[in-house]
Amino acid sequence: MADPKLNLAVLISGRGSNLQSLIEACADPAFPARIVVVISNRPGAGGLQRAEAAGIPALTLDHTAYPDKSTFETTLHEKLLAYPVDLVCLAGFMRVLGAGFVNKWANRIVNIHPSLLPDYKGLNTHARALADGVARAGCTVHYVTATLDDGPIVMQKSVPVMPDDTIESLAARVLVAEHSLYPAAVRQIALEWLKTIEESEKIAEY
Ligand code: GRF
Repeated sequence: MADPKLNLAVLISGRGSNLQSLIEACADPAFPARIVVVISNRPGAGGLQRAEAAGIPALTLDHTAYPDKSTFETTLHEKLLAYPVDLVCLAGFMRVLGAGFVNKWANRIVNIHPSLLPDYKGLNTHARALADGVARAGCTVHYVTATLDDGPIVMQKSVPVMPDDTIESLAARVLVAEHSLYPAAVRQIALEWLKTIEESEKIAEY
């Protein structure tokens, strides 16, 4: 196989610490994926600088500049098609993607969510977990479907909740877990994808 890596597009809205964990994972020549483009829907998002520092093409598509969600998502789709993208990784991308876009990229979008799904879908996950007095919290990488935070789970990582935790202290502990979970999940997806390609090449040779 000439180019045995999964090509990632990473979509962000903010500081991009999960993007950074993927950048660092991809810096290892043995990691089976590479980032081909980073797209932010917010101008000035911190993650754009991280992409630029790593020499990765970084684009801004300001959703407020589009008349509606559908026009924004059509442009996002076209931008992604300009790169050889195999998998779209949402990393703190704060727009809910509509069914039209999700269906075009079916089984090719993953997201990292700061809870142990199916618990605490949506926003304010840590505050809700603390209010419920749960013993463990965590994060999930899952495939994206048209229903929010509902797609098949790829991988999860849990952390303890401490008696004196605040939203901030719990969020910080979960974020550390996110930074190892996302690269691990992408690695697993990439290895499965490469195996499928190898098998189809063998069948084609047969
Ligand atoms: C993370 O907690 C992620 O789980 C959630 O948004 C946050 C993004 O953080 N979806 P960062 O921009 O990757 O630092």
